[in-house]
Amino acid sequence: MKGLILSGGKGTRLRPLTFTSAKQLVPVANKPVLFFGIESIVAAGITEIGIIVGDTKDEIREAVGDGSKFGAKVTYIEQDAPRGLAHAVMIAEDFIGSDSFVMYLGDNLIAGGITSLVEEFQELGCNAQILLAEVPNPEQFGVAELAEDNTIRRLQEKPAKPKSNLALVGVYMFDRKIFEAVHRIKPSARGELEITDAIQDLIDHGAEVHPHKVRGWWKDTGKLEDMLEANRIVLEAYDIPRSPLRMGTNSHVEGRVGIAEGVELINTRVRGPAVIGAGTRLENAFVGPYSSIGPGCTLVNCEIENSIILEGSEIRDIDGRIDDSLVGRNVKIVQSESKPKAHRFMLGDRSEVGIL
Ligand code: TTP
Repeated sequence: MKGLILSGGKGTRLRPLTFTSAKQLVPVANKPVLFFGIESIVAAGITEIGIIVGDTKDEIREAVGDGSKFGAKVTYIEQDAPRGLAHAVMIAEDFIGSDSFVMYLGDNLIAGGITSLVEEFQELGCNAQILLAEVPNPEQFGVAELAEDNTIRRLQEKPAKPKSNLALVGVYMFDRKIFEAVHRIKPSARGELEITDAIQDLIDHGAEVHPHKVRGWWKDTGKLEDMLEANRIVLEAYDIPRSPLRMGTNSHVEGRVGIAEGVELINTRVRGPAVIGAGTRLENAFVGPYSSIGPGCTLVNCEIENSIILEGSEIRDIDGRIDDSLVGRNVKIVQSESKPKAHRFMLGDRSEVGIL
């Protein structure tokens, strides 16, 4: 089998971060979301992986390389524009050849990996396997309606009136038949070749499509809240190594805290689960549970909880706790010294700031 990871797209829901970088590279527990996907495909014994890339191709290539650091061989497949998940399948036909494959959306995370799912697909010998999860907001997903015998009756992309609460999870398994389907379907009202239409087309042509309900958690990290929740879930379960750190007097590390090389704590308390990136300096700070502080950050006289702070950011002299936040790379949040006493901002397009 081969792997196909979709890492193109626009990432509009994670702006402004995605104005400047790929959403699949936003880290959860200080590791890009995309890497979790690559690792779970490799863990399932699949080492030939195609990655669909769009505008952010250079950044994705730089982060993933030739795949050897994951024990994989990666081929990049360029998509000229995000024309839909089924379009991504279509342009991967030469790469996939006559193999079956697992398609993985590069911004999704699924508990427990995909090894048992790949095995199930191979044992069943069906034409496709889709994963379904119960969600409270099915209208925002591809939705499956099942018959009494658990076969799929109908699939619909983001229906206004969903027939069930079963959303399609971003991991799919296909054999070659999917290529016939993606060539038969037409773009949807939003102008994309929808994977739900392609799978429905498979069913309409008598192919065997097996639905598998996922029991563990699954997250599409497309939005801020989902990103923070994925960060919480991963930190909860993840065993992150703790390197030796420079710890001044009156500093404490409580609970499970992953610490990378060269971290310095001065008069600071870190309460896990949390992770602190390489070379980060914390002084008179409190880092509370479910925080991922990236490498090269400086946090002085501040308190942070349940947040993701990316590489190279500086947070200094902030009254009140920073909570539920996602802070991009090289951001500065500092108290200004000049009078009059006022809030001063330089924010990119579509930034969001909450002030009490
Ligand atoms: P989506 O989250 O459906 O789309 P998006 O990335 O454009 O995000 P937004 O809705 O915030 O604008 O995409 C799921 C994954 O598939 C994501 O990793 C991007 C990728 N993708 C492609 O590679 N090619 C495509 O044509 C599309 C639609 C998505």
